[in-house]
Amino acid sequence: MSYPFKISSEEDYRKAWNKSVKDPEGFWDGVASSFLWRKKWDSVLEWNFKDPDVKWFSGGKLNITENCLDRHLGLLGNQPALIWEPNDPEGHHRVLTYRDLYNKVIQFANVLKNNGVEKGDRVCIYMGMVPELAIAVLACARIGAVHSVIFGGFSAQSIADRLQDAQAKYIITCDGASRGAKEIPLKNVIDDALVQCRFVERVIVLTHTHTPVSMIKGRDVWWEDEIKKVETMGNPDCPAEEMDAEDPLFILYTSGSTGKPKGVVHTCGGYMVYTTYSFVNVFQYEPGDIHFCTADIGWITGHSYILYGPLGAGATTMMFEGIPTWPDAGRFWDIVDKYKVNILYTAPTAIRSLMGYGLGPIHGHKLDSLKVLGSVGEPINEEAWQWMHDNIGKGKCPIVDTWWQTETGGIMISNMAGITPAKPTYATLPLPGIQPVLVDEEGNEIEGNDVSGNLCIKHPWPSIIRTTYGDHERCRQTYFSTYKDMYFTGDGCYRDAEGNYRITGRVDDVLNVSGHRIGTAEVENAINMHAGVIESAIVGYPHDVKGQGIYAYVIYDHPHSGDENLTRQDITQTVTRIIGPIAKPDKIQFVSGLPKTRSGKIMRRILRKVAEGETENLGDTSTLLDPAVVEEIKKGRI
Ligand code: WT7
Repeated sequence: MSYPFKISSEEDYRKAWNKSVKDPEGFWDGVASSFLWRKKWDSVLEWNFKDPDVKWFSGGKLNITENCLDRHLGLLGNQPALIWEPNDPEGHHRVLTYRDLYNKVIQFANVLKNNGVEKGDRVCIYMGMVPELAIAVLACARIGAVHSVIFGGFSAQSIADRLQDAQAKYIITCDGASRGAKEIPLKNVIDDALVQCRFVERVIVLTHTHTPVSMIKGRDVWWEDEIKKVETMGNPDCPAEEMDAEDPLFILYTSGSTGKPKGVVHTCGGYMVYTTYSFVNVFQYEPGDIHFCTADIGWITGHSYILYGPLGAGATTMMFEGIPTWPDAGRFWDIVDKYKVNILYTAPTAIRSLMGYGLGPIHGHKLDSLKVLGSVGEPINEEAWQWMHDNIGKGKCPIVDTWWQTETGGIMISNMAGITPAKPTYATLPLPGIQPVLVDEEGNEIEGNDVSGNLCIKHPWPSIIRTTYGDHERCRQTYFSTYKDMYFTGDGCYRDAEGNYRITGRVDDVLNVSGHRIGTAEVENAINMHAGVIESAIVGYPHDVKGQGIYAYVIYDHPHSGDENLTRQDITQTVTRIIGPIAKPDKIQFVSGLPKTRSGKIMRRILRKVAEGETENLGDTSTLLDPAVVEEIKKGRI
């Protein structure tokens, strides 16, 4: 497969970026032309950021799976599309060629149809990292159903909230998932969620861990039985549903500064074009390369750079079921050598956790197949960057630091491997089609270099968020109302003297814990549900491995009676129940009051400083209702 849009030099990059700014429509018309469309678009772009209303490739008809599967069958039919490494290093790995993956997607698409799933229906997928997860996602796309993958670390309550919001009548799950030494009873969690969701009509359950599960007659069916039914139909074909470019492809829930996660909606045409375009260019993918993205498909990184981006490019993509530290901290390196991985795309938190084990686990590994390393999810600190560069890349692999978000669908700011220069801790330059701007609090654009501000994007790109499911006003409010005619990212950013961008972190009440996005309001709501809790406030603090840790200040009914540590565990348990283990507070400090202004607003700046260990220079505390609580909070710091 050749990529007519592939950038091959720094000059090429400059030209592409300039063209994309001068003539965005001409630019993307050209890129989109190398994809497979049933019908060409009538207009490349119609948009306003006021409503917002953004339409890319309007009138165009396509199916993304024809681009990810069918069109590769001729040339790449026998090439590996998906390589799966199981959690158990002794277990059997699996290799699915493009032909195999196509056949399995067709088969499962027919299973979905047999179970009543129709175009536009929302299907919730709650599975571990097994090949059938990829198959389920693509089968939904095949028939035009809207998939909504939920990460395996979310609780029953979180699932129920999402099912309700999406009104998903169909669920695809596994009996259980294996992660390191742990087994997660996925189907049991689903059963707990469904107590509240009587509208769910069908649950399709894949056998994987052989964990005992309950199967409700009339509602729950086994994946394997359903496949057999399709086989007895003589393995019929499943022509791809013809989709409008702007039909929804999927919903993915993500946290914001309010208590309720938002269903970010991406559409078929623009998302397809942008994920494949960015995949090929950022990683400089060459046919035959083995691409290993270590993310979970429950997050946007997995959607865009394990599945759609690579498959759109006819690449070989890897899926790993396990975790980097099990059975030991050499697991990633075993995988790299076993499959001769060329591109390794991972997260700073994983690197920092592996750094803690020293160089021992790397010894005995060649790692000489590696050509490109990538980082995503949070700012990468200089030390982790250098460690990765020296010890994993052996000084010869470019590292791409890719900044983007669930809402942006694909990588927005990043160097291109070996093409544009890297600069440690900088995401560096915008991709073609991306126009970043820094703005001050009043929304004035800050021009020039060596400046800081809030990061916004000026012009739409093909994979921009279209809406938040079921609540368009919320999408407008969150992303398009803070600054006029701009998409607001929620991140702070510095632009250096050469125009390189360095993301400095969120400026809203969103935490980034091990690359997972967690809303402080969500955690506070969960803590406040615990009996005895009167009020709470959550802030982030620097954490060596997780990037940010969760620090909770809690006003509790009987702070000094009973067993404080047990109460802490109870609160943690409540959070695990309501959100999931990923939102567990790292530290809980009991307080008798919170620093509030006279208007009742919690002064988080003070709480943040104390959590960070800064007890002097707390800034102006004169507007506080009760300055004495600050002294108490400082003394009780954990
Ligand atoms: C937030 C988005 C993008 C996929 C994974 C996370 C932070 C992401 C970087 C980076 C600095 C980064 C930002 C962003 N972030 N990548 N390379 N450097 N910060 O997606 O859960 O939607 O979170 O992650 O703060 O806003 P997400």
